[in-house]
Amino acid sequence: MSRWNVVRTQDGSLSFAHPVHGQACHSDSGAWLESLERYARACRLAEVSLRRERVRILDVGTGLGWNLAAALHELPPHVHVEVLCLESDPEVIRQALELHAAQGLAEQEPARSAYGRIAPLLAQALESGKAHDAQMQLRLLLGDARSTLSRAPEREFDAVFLDPFSPGVEGELWDWGFLAELAQSMTEVGILSTYTVSMGVRAGLLAAGLRLGTGPRVGRKASGTLASRSAALEPLPEALLRKLGRRVKARTGRDQGF
Ligand SMILES: C[S@@+](CC[C@H](N)C(=O)[O-])C[C@H]1O[C@@H](n2cnc3c(N)ncnc32)[C@H](O)[C@@H]1O
Repeated sequence: MSRWNVVRTQDGSLSFAHPVHGQACHSDSGAWLESLERYARACRLAEVSLRRERVRILDVGTGLGWNLAAALHELPPHVHVEVLCLESDPEVIRQALELHAAQGLAEQEPARSAYGRIAPLLAQALESGKAHDAQMQLRLLLGDARSTLSRAPEREFDAVFLDPFSPGVEGELWDWGFLAELAQSMTEVGILSTYTVSMGVRAGLLAAGLRLGTGPRVGRKASGTLASRSAALEPLPEALLRKLGRRVKARTGRDQGF
């Protein structure tokens, strides 16, 4: 069993670094801060909940579960949430739950309580692949997300949290084929958020038929990337879009029209 190494981030929430390549799961500015700003808020979960009674989230690279905790925190209690979690290593979840039981994953509120809400669901899902409480229905598929995603019965996600390790370290989930599958799994106004600003990933999202937008800056981290078929997003600079368009054309032969 490989041991994930505990990392304390600046907002007092704990994260892990990968046991082999050592990359941290979160920005050192804060695991909780990143989950809340980069994922739950950037995907406008609170806004989605105003038009839908049920919000569907795809969580790619569930890890410690911070993005889920932030999602639950962001949604009003009457809104039902369905989450599909894709994670290749059950140990990361198991060890996060152990740490939570031993000392908690955050010193401060609201991160502490938010993780406390998600922990029993993750524990149950590790046992049986699914779990629910009054608000959330969670399904956990263990294995490589490139194959587990195809086992999802319903693929109409309002939000996609795309949070694997960086493209230079673990490239597989940034593959254009997988990005295209993610795009096909989203509702018309669904939003995908990711921390990377990699040209290759952005071009892949564009090639998948999504429009691109700038994500929020989180701590010292760059803006990240948002993508959606039709939600209004803060656009990328024209010059950058043209460059991305040329990349897509070189690879697929398709003109992006800018
Ligand atoms: C940056 S961490 C995610 C942090 C997490 N989202 C959170 O909120 O705590 C990346 C995660 O992606 C998982 N992962 C890496 N490759 C994967 C793959 N091919 N399929 C599914 N999960 C993968 C890793 O095991 C790790 O838990």
